Amino acid sequence: MTQSNDNIYATKQTVGPFRFDEKVVAVFPDMITRSVPGYEDVIKGIQQLASEYTIENTNCYDLGCSLGAASLAISYGNQKQGVKIYGIDNSEAMIERCRSNIDGFKHKTPISLMNCSIQDTNIENAGFIVLNYTLQFIAQPDRLAILKSIYDGMVSGAVLILSEKIVFEDELINANMIKLHHQFKRDNGYSDLEISQKRNALENVLVPETIKQHIDRLQEVGFQPVCCWNQNLNFASLIAVKP
Ligand SMILES: C[S@@+](CC[C@H](N)C(=O)[O-])C[C@H]1O[C@@H](n2cnc3c(N)ncnc32)[C@H](O)[C@@H]1O
Repeated sequence: MTQSNDNIYATKQTVGPFRFDEKVVAVFPDMITRSVPGYEDVIKGIQQLASEYTIENTNCYDLGCSLGAASLAISYGNQKQGVKIYGIDNSEAMIERCRSNIDGFKHKTPISLMNCSIQDTNIENAGFIVLNYTLQFIAQPDRLAILKSIYDGMVSGAVLILSEKIVFEDELINANMIKLHHQFKRDNGYSDLEISQKRNALENVLVPETIKQHIDRLQEVGFQPVCCWNQNLNFASLIAVKP
């Protein structure tokens, strides 16, 4: 796949709400690696977790799969027989590009892609589920119901990997983590104009929560245990087990 640099917010513009449209799809790998601290570690970690946690003759789901980075990581990591991977995304442009992206890599566990919303996905016989930086884009009141339907579709012993941008309860730590995140973006070549216009575009579109809110909600659904396995500044990934 040809890699393009993300310069979507490089010029001064009237900023509308952020959408996963063709423009974003064209620069997505560059955008996510330069914007999310620890993204590549999390993808590598998902491969390692898949090697440990996938379950024979069950399904894996990559919900909000974008260009399929986590789907491929599961495919590389999986060691079990009879495992199928389903990549789900409600952006048609993403799924189209994901298809050619996945076809370009040799992978052993089959991946099927579906252009639909997580809310309309029938999750069944699931052994390993990834929600990588996607729940944060779903309206807060809908998040509990989505996690319940994920839980209901999982077999006993299955795991959910939930990665999210987070906020901190302590105001000063939160402000400092945001400052450090902006520095991370500057270090990766984004200008102050790009950082502030992107921030405006994401306002009320990406709504982050605290780790405690995520853990409490996952436990309310029935997951036990729930642990943080990766954190880098204001981005964290949790592992949640269905008993
Ligand atoms: C930040 S990206 C996810 C990155 C990807 N999981 C990865 O690890 O590279 C969020 C993705 O979720 C998709 N998305 C957002 N809301 C969705 C929904 N309700 N159903 C399905 N996909 C959704 C977007 O189209 C976008 O591709």
